[in-house]
Amino acid sequence: MVRFEGGGAGFATFRGSCVNEPVHIPVLADEVATLLGGSGGISRPDGWIVDATLGAGGHSATLLERFPGVRVLGTDQDPQILDVARERLEPFQDRVRLERSRISELSRTLRKLRLPRPIGLLMDLGASSLQLDRPERGFSFQTDGPLDMRMDPERERTAADIVNTWDEGDLADLFFHEGGEGRARRIASEIVRNRRRVAFRRTGALAELVSQVYGRSGGRVHPATKVFQALRRAVHQEGDELLQGLAAADWWLADGGVLAVISFHSGEDGVVKRFLREGEASDRWDALTKKPITASHKEGRRNPRSRSAMLRGGVRRRKAGEPVGEPLGGEGVPPA
Ligand SMILES: C[S@@+](CC[C@H](N)C(=O)[O-])C[C@H]1O[C@@H](n2cnc3c(N)ncnc32)[C@H](O)[C@@H]1O
Repeated sequence: MVRFEGGGAGFATFRGSCVNEPVHIPVLADEVATLLGGSGGISRPDGWIVDATLGAGGHSATLLERFPGVRVLGTDQDPQILDVARERLEPFQDRVRLERSRISELSRTLRKLRLPRPIGLLMDLGASSLQLDRPERGFSFQTDGPLDMRMDPERERTAADIVNTWDEGDLADLFFHEGGEGRARRIASEIVRNRRRVAFRRTGALAELVSQVYGRSGGRVHPATKVFQALRRAVHQEGDELLQGLAAADWWLADGGVLAVISFHSGEDGVVKRFLREGEASDRWDALTKKPITASHKEGRRNPRSRSAMLRGGVRRRKAGEPVGEPLGGEGVPPA
């Protein structure tokens, strides 16, 4: 017997009776396939698409099933999650290639592999349930674990490093701007006061401090949600990663290739919207979404995480004779 459960951090998990492991349910999977499949993107019989946030491979599996001629290059910064995806996508054999890579390293990875220009590029931003629901990864404010949060273990800075070393003003700005936390100043001040006695090392201690700042007025959502989101974004420099991913899409996508981005943060959605709007103004992109595509009520009930998902997409238009230009960091000309 299998059942769906609302998981920690508002994420849905899928648990079997034998394997008590969280499984990530891809959000807006149909909508992503429809977006990527239109406008000459994936409907080309033999193209590559890049899933730059592969996770457990849910979106990639949907795309590989729906478009039999398509091949997928799946990249992720988390080596543990790549192992999960490798197992899941094994039935698709040589239609799949997996590489450990950050979004910001995409250009280098694509150049190394010498694939033709991709016909689709997907970024499903943020973290997977496989990361959020495992306390030992340090994302959970509901179950105690080390205050780590690194998806890529080679990143030098953990969430604890930020909490224990940033000055009060920087912490407050982080919580406010990256998490939308209304009590950012008070929380930052309490962190600084408390860490003089003992450094924060565990998620439980930080979650407890934020809960105390809120007292009994925390509401339905855990009071530490926004602080934890802000820390995760800082650990991974998520704003910068997105900008680099958009630049890579502009540089690498084939003529008619489709970009799809799912964000869970209004600031990120705004960045994608502006990127497509500016791309239209310079005749490089046609936006496919005037407003972000959001989850249906049915999907929202089945997978609470999908409720905050915003999907936008666009088609890259290459004019004959468009200057090739130099991509990020002068990384060379992609194959035709
Ligand atoms: C929301 S999950 C993707 C889930 C996936 N679409 C699926 O269906 O299973 C986001 C994934 O992107 C990865 N990720 C986030 N930021 C990244 C970055 N800057 N570079 C590479 N991978 C990243 C995370 O490790 C995580 O596995």
